[in-house]
Amino acid sequence: MFFSPLRLFDLNAQPPWHGPMKVGVLTGGGDCAGINGVVRAVVRRAEDRGAVVVGIRRGWAGLLEPDYVPLSYDQVADLVSVGGTFLLTSRTNPFKKKGGPELVMKNFKDAGLDALIAIGGEDTLGVAHKLADLGLRAVGVPKTIDNDLSETDVTFGFDSAVNVAVDAIDRIRTTGMSHERIMVVEVMGRDAGWIATHAGIAGGAHIILVPEEEFDIGDVCETVAARRRAGKNFTLIVAAEGARVKLKHGQVTSAQELDEFGHPKLGGIGHLLAGEIERITHLECRDVVLGHTLRGGSPLAFDRVLCTRLGVAAMDLVTEGRFDRMVALRGNAIVDVKMGDAIKPKALDRDLLSVGRLFH
Ligand code: F6P
Repeated sequence: MFFSPLRLFDLNAQPPWHGPMKVGVLTGGGDCAGINGVVRAVVRRAEDRGAVVVGIRRGWAGLLEPDYVPLSYDQVADLVSVGGTFLLTSRTNPFKKKGGPELVMKNFKDAGLDALIAIGGEDTLGVAHKLADLGLRAVGVPKTIDNDLSETDVTFGFDSAVNVAVDAIDRIRTTGMSHERIMVVEVMGRDAGWIATHAGIAGGAHIILVPEEEFDIGDVCETVAARRRAGKNFTLIVAAEGARVKLKHGQVTSAQELDEFGHPKLGGIGHLLAGEIERITHLECRDVVLGHTLRGGSPLAFDRVLCTRLGVAAMDLVTEGRFDRMVALRGNAIVDVKMGDAIKPKALDRDLLSVGRLFH
């Protein structure tokens, strides 16, 4: 396989660059459909601009223990339709390690890198933003199925994830209706109910539960029972994994330990809910956890176009020497915003949730 030769540049050079430059690219946090498409677009644009791209493997881990792969367009040309991240990913946080940030900067410099494109969510981009204080020249690309980054209308990967959920819900509906059961579908969404809300509306859910609001199991059972009294024997509930049960459990976790960014491992709200609904209503209930299926598989056309546009725009920001910024979608335009603003959580659209809740 052909690899572009690595070229070393003057690390003290300041933007705008006139000569070729060497740009690192990494992917951190949970994967999603479309990441490979961003990298492909970055490399394509870089070659147009006479820059070279170096892939950094396993997110920030690849800068703590150097693990690089030089990238040429030939290698990535056919990846727009391929899910996951061929660069691999991790939830490594350099700020959790003694001397971590300084080591990242040293390795970055030793590799002769001029700039970095970080593809990630609030955690990965948060690290890039903090490292700007140590001199890192980074541009961010918003990636998360959760769609919870401020300053962008949508993150790539979200639309594909919602469509996987809706496809599954359509299947769960036919079996649920046939058996006259209560079906609880648990979808990802740690702190954000964007997936649950979109999948719930598109999948025709009767009850949508999101992390942004505590819910009462008694209220859920009452809705189920009211439907039954009205002759509707099937009820579809879509619950975000981060949905919070009032008074009782808060969020339901599947493990004790937190990751390096302080996040719990969630999972189990669907099962808990199904058990409680059966116990209280005596109606047959089943739960299905969609979990990582939402992150896997091929990106849909919307995300393929979006990730391509974002990758090209990220490389353009780099060549313009505009750092500590994130590319974003606003309406139909690709814009760029301050990374520090972008890493704040994007509030769920409550009007949209209200629309979804009309269909109980
Ligand atoms: O990337 C965000 C996310 O998909 C959350 O919705 C979810 O809680 C988390 O990732 C799960 O991550 P992991 O791959 O570590 O199980």
